[in-house]
Amino acid sequence: VTHALSARPALTALIVAGCLSQVLMASLGPRAERAASRSSAAPDNGWYTAAQAERGQAAYRDRCANCHGRDFVPDDFSTGLKGAAFEWRWNGRTVADLFEVTRRTMPPGEAGSLGPRATSDILAYLLQTNGYPEGPSELPSDAEALKAMKLTRTSKR
Ligand code: HEC
Repeated sequence: VTHALSARPALTALIVAGCLSQVLMASLGPRAERAASRSSAAPDNGWYTAAQAERGQAAYRDRCANCHGRDFVPDDFSTGLKGAAFEWRWNGRTVADLFEVTRRTMPPGEAGSLGPRATSDILAYLLQTNGYPEGPSELPSDAEALKAMKLTRTSKR
């Protein structure tokens, strides 16, 4: 009996804390959800410009095609950057992730040598290759903006 009595204040505190956190969640929930859906939206007006993708294609052929394939048939070591291979790796992630990985690791041996603009140009070409629509604005190289661009299968078609 002593045991049960001494446990009661702790239990009460636990229950109160539980209720409070639920109230808190309920009041934050809708706002958090709205923020999430806004931040993961596909751009309304396309992802990159045609001119940018064209620059990206030239840079890709110069810096990436050796390994990833001029026509996106990769060599034995490299990952596929088109179609199912690309989707498998990048669906649900943001262009910011893709940008970061590309800038930090590619091309191997010369990692970090791509400037932000060249990286965006090449990614514009990769997006075009994977069926993402072009539009009036360039794909930015600003991390915050790229975080709002989520790669999904549905945004492509
Ligand atoms: C010398 C060959 C080579 C060149 C050139 C090269 N890559 Fe890669 N790339 C690879 C290899 C190998 C991998 C797989 C690395 C791994 O899985 O760790 C890879 C992986 C990648 C990935 C996927 C990374 C991941 O974590 O899924 C991307 C994106 C990529 N490369 C983009 C590029 C771009 C863009 C260029 C041109 C700027 C480029 N690569 C140039 C060999 C190359």
